[in-house]
Amino acid sequence: MINRSDRKSDHLHLAINQYDTQNILEDIKLLHNCLPECNYDEINLSTSLCGLNFNNPIMINAITGGTQEAYQLNKKIASVAREVNIPMAVGSQKIALEDQNYQDTFEVVRRENPRGVIFANIGAYATPQMAQQICEMIKADGLQIHLNIPQELAMGEGDRSFQGYANNIAKIIDYVDIPVIVKEVGFGVKKEEISKLMDIGVKAVDISGCGGTNFINLENSRLEQPNLPSAKDWGIDTGSSLLEAVESSYHNLDIIASGGFSRSIEITKALALGARCVALAGYPLHILWHYGQDELISQLEQLLTELRSMMLMCGATSISQLCQTPLLITGKLREHADLRGID
Ligand code: FNR
Repeated sequence: MINRSDRKSDHLHLAINQYDTQNILEDIKLLHNCLPECNYDEINLSTSLCGLNFNNPIMINAITGGTQEAYQLNKKIASVAREVNIPMAVGSQKIALEDQNYQDTFEVVRRENPRGVIFANIGAYATPQMAQQICEMIKADGLQIHLNIPQELAMGEGDRSFQGYANNIAKIIDYVDIPVIVKEVGFGVKKEEISKLMDIGVKAVDISGCGGTNFINLENSRLEQPNLPSAKDWGIDTGSSLLEAVESSYHNLDIIASGGFSRSIEITKALALGARCVALAGYPLHILWHYGQDELISQLEQLLTELRSMMLMCGATSISQLCQTPLLITGKLREHADLRGID
């Protein structure tokens, strides 16, 4: 039986090897404003999520922990997040609950980034006490609870029982005293589940749609006999999932957009659609691995610089103004919206 630490190492290397950029959100068109009447220096990128204030509307999403290599990566990610002044999340901390020797591969992020916004991460199977323990481990500002059913089913050694998750999530929200984000891991979320999550008190959802890292494909590469067919026909693409989430939230839910983001135009579109923040995982991992920490800092700063320019070209000086900018939904995304009764 493969141990959890080996599996994490496989995921990391496979995600790096299979990294590919895709043209997500191509069916959303932002409309140019030729008379924006605002100054570049006035553009304010700050945003907020469940009462947490961020200076910038991008974050590094959950990636890793639980191996020596992950220790080094988490250290670098935390230092990049500190330098660029963006929030970050660690990967699932379950491994550190099972074996204390792995705690340091997570704790390192808080040492490296003492004042930054950092999210803890665990699956929806967790008890409130487990959730509290992993938050304390890294003095987390918020907690991500991941939903990764396709990944579990694709894994030979994965879970097969997913009952009681909504109830668990509700109990965790009641128990921990920091904001909780429920997140997918790359297969998207639709409006029916968003409504259920809102009913149990969830205030923030990271849609993590299809279009970037794909855990069915990652898991299938680890197996001679895959448990699931290739992922190309499964999951809700990032654009469609974002529409589902924005439509169903009616401003009572903070949406984080993720799943395949690597370009400033896509980030601008997601924020214009109503996301509070855009989270990136495969892209920063790829840059960090191949080009190093300084290059990642420079790439993320470039994304923010370009975002500022695009906000100006939309006539928006704040993220809330960017949400008011007119945009067109075309092609397959329009079709998805029509078929699902989304305005
Ligand atoms: C992930 N992701 C992830 N998510 C989570 O909630 N807990 C985890 O432990 C992990 N582990 C993990 C490992 C690796 C190597 C990658 C690349 C990703 C999922 C991640 O946070 C995100 O939801 C998806 O990767 C989709 O975003 P990208 O990669 O397309 O930007």
